[in-house]
Amino acid sequence: MNKKEWRGTIMARLKTFSEQEKQRNSKTIYDHLFQLPIWEVSKTLGITISTSKEIDTTPIIEKAWELGKKVAVPKCLPETKQLDFRELHSFTQLESVYYGLQEPIVAKTAPVYPVHIDLLLVPGLCFDSRGYRIGFGGGYYDRFLAEFKGVKVALAYDEQLIDTVPEEEHDIPVDFIVTPRGVLTCSR
Ligand SMILES: Nc1ncnc2c1ncn2[C@@H]1O[C@H](COP(=O)(O)OP(=O)(O)OP(=O)(O)O)[C@@H](O)[C@H]1O
Ligand SMILES: [Mg+2]
Repeated sequence: MNKKEWRGTIMARLKTFSEQEKQRNSKTIYDHLFQLPIWEVSKTLGITISTSKEIDTTPIIEKAWELGKKVAVPKCLPETKQLDFRELHSFTQLESVYYGLQEPIVAKTAPVYPVHIDLLLVPGLCFDSRGYRIGFGGGYYDRFLAEFKGVKVALAYDEQLIDTVPEEEHDIPVDFIVTPRGVLTCSR
């Protein structure tokens, strides 16, 4: 299957999940994430505000604040397909943009430079054991990751793991995938 077909397949799979199942699996994922050595040492976390079909990132952001980490949330810049990470101290600094995506309000947030982000949670629809991912198709993250030097971690339900992502030249794999069953160290 090509990327587009996989996106459809995985979206359909995720829709069959009950809220209860999602919550149970998410909790296990958080527990595994919070035990990762890179989580412990990271000072600045790059993370998106999840949409309803994704693993809820709110508890992760709250935990990071609790631990005194800096939280950087991206705003998509459609003209250049770049990500502008801004420092988030409170969910009141967010606004709803296209497709109901929540993004930081530029006037209310300071920029965070990519070199300061030491741990990045990379969103995606599905992943393989090499860490290759299929995202939402904008290429925003691939562009960003091309220059990114920190550790890249993805969160995924088991249903989002596939054998082989039909990767392309520009695709950049993640380093770890945290699933309800544990942490996968991606080998290539
Ligand atoms: N580093 C890059 N430079 C220029 N174009 C890029 C780069 N990375 C990706 N693209 C373009 O972005 C488009 C989408 O890429 P792809 O299908 O891999 O999206 P994706 O990985 O699902 O999206 P995202 O990275 O936002 O999660 C492709 O047409 C690709 O050519
Ligand atoms: Mg890609």
